[in-house]
Amino acid sequence: MLQVEGLVKRFGGLVAVDHVSFEVPERTIMGLIGINGAGKTTAMNLINGIYRLDEGHVRIDGRDVTGKTPHEIAHEGVGRTFQVPRVFHRMTLIENLLVPVLDRHETDAALTDRAEATLAKVNLAALRHNHAEELSGGQQKLLELARVMMFDPKLILLDEPFAGVNPALCRLFIEQIERLLGQGKTFLLVSHDLTSIYRLSTTIAVLNQGQKIAEGTVDEIKNDPAVIEAYLGN
Ligand SMILES: Nc1ncnc2c1ncn2[C@@H]1O[C@H](COP(=O)(O)OP(=O)(O)OP(=O)(O)O)[C@@H](O)[C@H]1O
Ligand SMILES: [Mg+2]
Repeated sequence: MLQVEGLVKRFGGLVAVDHVSFEVPERTIMGLIGINGAGKTTAMNLINGIYRLDEGHVRIDGRDVTGKTPHEIAHEGVGRTFQVPRVFHRMTLIENLLVPVLDRHETDAALTDRAEATLAKVNLAALRHNHAEELSGGQQKLLELARVMMFDPKLILLDEPFAGVNPALCRLFIEQIERLLGQGKTFLLVSHDLTSIYRLSTTIAVLNQGQKIAEGTVDEIKNDPAVIEAYLGN
């Protein structure tokens, strides 16, 4: 579903993403981990076109999307959430969910019904007519997930979905990820919450100073000396 090949992103002299390659098969979750500044968010920004690649290729479901804009890549079936939530603050929750489907050929009533049902899945139905700016940080993360669900992409990129989210909302988030996986979605999941990463990931890739230093199953990653050194130092 997702193939990245030789991704490179430089910011002046800093190589934030340094020849990173990996593949995420359909209906799996790849966990992407690494310490602060390792290049995880930058890699995600390269995949969905927010940043321009200096080198490399990105393929979604076999189609080369290298150099495409974020909205073109969204149309290829890619949804994402952000480390710092990017909801539309002055719009209601319902309106936030209608934004990604404005060009769909459904009646307003059908879309509004679907938006309400989607908000119910993330426990936000009671707040549907409130402005998004009134939500807590954790609730804004759930609103972003609901917006992704409304858009119904094949590939979902989640950047730190659990950060600052209380344990009950985290469980809800994890349930929704598992439900979407069961429906056939594919995920790239960035998180510092290793418990959740270990629980959800099919495979894990580890970045350190922009480079991929390991990739494997949960057990392989937990026991990888290069990973332990990157996290704990010598
Ligand atoms: N727009 C930018 N301009 C300059 N440097 C940047 C930019 N975006 C990221 N960087 C740098 O690239 C490196 C990787 O940053 P990135 O945000 O990808 O890390 P991360 O792995 O997501 O970290 P965290 O776990 O803290 O979110 C960092 O050194 C960061 O300062
Ligand atoms: Mg980040």
